[in-house]
Order: sequence, then C-alpha cells, then structure tokens
Amino acid sequence: MKKIEKVKLIKLKVFGDTRGALISLEQYKDIPFGIKRVYYIFDTKRDTPRGFHAHKTLEQVLICVNGSCKIKVDDGKNVDIFDLCSQNVGLYIGTMVWREMFAFSQGCVLLVLASRYYDPKEYIKDYNEFLRSVSCTNRE
Ligand code: TYD
Repeated sequence: MKKIEKVKLIKLKVFGDTRGALISLEQYKDIPFGIKRVYYIFDTKRDTPRGFHAHKTLEQVLICVNGSCKIKVDDGKNVDIFDLCSQNVGLYIGTMVWREMFAFSQGCVLLVLASRYYDPKEYIKDYNEFLRSVSCTNRE
C-alpha cells in the first residue's frame, strides 16, 4: 500500500509519573498548524460510520483520547486505514483527503484539533466531486 503524503501519524510526548499521565498540545509545536477549533466525537456506535467528506482548506489532527476507532483516508489515488487506539498518537490529515471514521469501541472519544473555524462551505461531501477535484489539482 502506498503512503498518503498528506496523512501522517504524530507521536505525542507523554509526561508520566506515579500520579498518572499528561499530554500537552501546543499549536505550531506539537500540532503542525494554528489551532482555531477543537471538538470531540463521543456516544458513537460501532456500526455507524461518520465522516464521508474531504476539506478543501482544513487541516486536522485526530486523537482517540479514550477507546479506539479506525480512520480510512483516501487522497484519490491511495487508500490507507489507521487504527487509533492510543492517547499518545495523533493522526494528521491535510487538505483534500477523503476520510471515514468507523469501528468505534465502547466509550470511544475522538478529539479533533482543526486549523479553521467551522465552515460547511469548505466541505466536499460527494465522493465523485472529490475525485474530480483531486484529479484537477493533480493536473495543475
Ligand atoms: P458532521 O460534519 O456530520 O460530523 P462527522 O464529520 O463526524 O460526520 O457534523 C455533525 C453536526 O455537527 C453537523 O450538524 C454540523 C455540526 N458541526 C458544527 O456545528 N461545528 C463543527 O465544528 C463540526 C465538526 C460539526
């Protein structure tokens, strides 16, 4: 399987001691962009996938802070599936990557850090439109 350049796993530093563990996330340092928005997804159902869109201009880092889930990413040429099951790993997803989240465990909490404010206009929700857009970009 070929790697998708716009998607990468980020190892997060854990400050752990006998009291427990702590992870701190700072923009432009631990997270490769300025953080404009944070949201989290919870109360999910194992058999109810989400996502099914790409973002024209948004970058994100996804961290499963409790439980586990899988993220399918697709740049129009290659597809990859990441198993997020650790609090100290973030999945960076750049612009114009189709994503689907699925296989949510019981109690899964997926934290998302985003580079932009919420804007429904910068979503691409139609897969064929996404494929057309990335093939245009690849020709430029
Ligand atoms: P949606 O994009 O469907 O979630 P997912 O990517 O997990 O499939 O978002 C669900 C609802 O939440 C939808 O009505 C839009 C709203 N929403 C906001 O208002 N702000 C946000 O930052 C996000 C991500 C979603």
